[in-house]
Amino acid sequence: MDSRHRQKAHLAARVSTSMQTKWLTMKHDMSNTLADISDVQDVLAMTLGVAKTHVLGVAAELGIADLLKHGPRSVAEIAATTKTNQGALLRLMRVLASLGILEEPTPGMFVNTSKGRLLQTGAPRSVRHYAMLMAQECLAASWPCLLHSMRTGESAFEKTNGHGIYEYFRMNPAAGAVMNQAMSEMSSQEGVAICDAYEFAPDLSVVDVGGGRGGLLLSILEAHPGIRGTLLDLPHVATEAQEMLAARVVDRCKIVGGDFLREVPGGGDLYILKRILVDQTDDTAMAVLRNVRTAIAPQGALLIADPGVESLYGRSFDMLMLMIFGGKLRSESDRAALLEKAGFRLTRTMKTASAIHLVEAVPI
Ligand SMILES: C[S@@+](CC[C@H](N)C(=O)[O-])C[C@H]1O[C@@H](n2cnc3c(N)ncnc32)[C@H](O)[C@@H]1O
Repeated sequence: MDSRHRQKAHLAARVSTSMQTKWLTMKHDMSNTLADISDVQDVLAMTLGVAKTHVLGVAAELGIADLLKHGPRSVAEIAATTKTNQGALLRLMRVLASLGILEEPTPGMFVNTSKGRLLQTGAPRSVRHYAMLMAQECLAASWPCLLHSMRTGESAFEKTNGHGIYEYFRMNPAAGAVMNQAMSEMSSQEGVAICDAYEFAPDLSVVDVGGGRGGLLLSILEAHPGIRGTLLDLPHVATEAQEMLAARVVDRCKIVGGDFLREVPGGGDLYILKRILVDQTDDTAMAVLRNVRTAIAPQGALLIADPGVESLYGRSFDMLMLMIFGGKLRSESDRAALLEKAGFRLTRTMKTASAIHLVEAVPI
């Protein structure tokens, strides 16, 4: 482009930006009317988002959905079984009813809705332990430090608790057990959705990097008898994965305790990073990707499985990742740029019947 054309293009860009600004200002002026009472109610309800987190967490902890598994029960019976204060419990159950988790067909009698059944232990698609995880003290204590993340882009969790979350869970096994159960719940349902959405070649060697207790790898190996698998996770988590996978698919599965920021097991055809890059800053994400790039077979592929960002859940989860790790939920273009820098080319993206979106990439 010669300098005259460049000037013209520059001018055109400035004109279109200034028109856009004018249009946005007009739109802003039009919508700048006084908020009505329902706006006030909505914003007030948002300010109490923390109440929802903890109401769900307590309900999950008390096992209320399990107690309602066989049909309606009175608040008096549930209070007696859970050793809680009946008046306080009634108020909690009425919040659950207003959230659509329970119904109260007659005063003081409660029943699960389809959403309520998601808090039952072991129910299909259960998120009981995930609800308990979100209400853990270490997270509740860290959210008020979000401003620190805003100012620095760094982890509020580490500033509050003095350790990264995985070190915290290693040192606090009871909280760590809730985390592992929550991840297993998510992994088994997301594993099925991933197996439905992605065609695994029948004789692959799959490496699940940061595979947790092995829920996803188990789904893949059970669905494909010709596939062999390796799971890498921190040593104390790898021991738990060994127990879970040993009984079911031990002859086709290797468990490795290690650190994906240092090294990833070599020679695999398909590397999976599920809910791993969201935990990472751009620098540590690059370290993981480069280690996978070093390890992967020349004709291999990488599958990144993270929640999509374009929803209220996605946007809120993005804040959670910033707050805990200084991490982030990346847009497709952010991922493509990161992958290219690490020596991969993004080949396709796929939705699944879960919160997880898949991104496939190959080495270049
Ligand atoms: C959010 S969980 C995701 C687990 C699993 N991929 C899933 O989707 O259910 C992150 C996993 O990464 C593991 N992890 C964290 N840091 C690690 C590291 N430096 N090396 C290996 N594994 C690590 C954790 O122990 C945990 O199992």
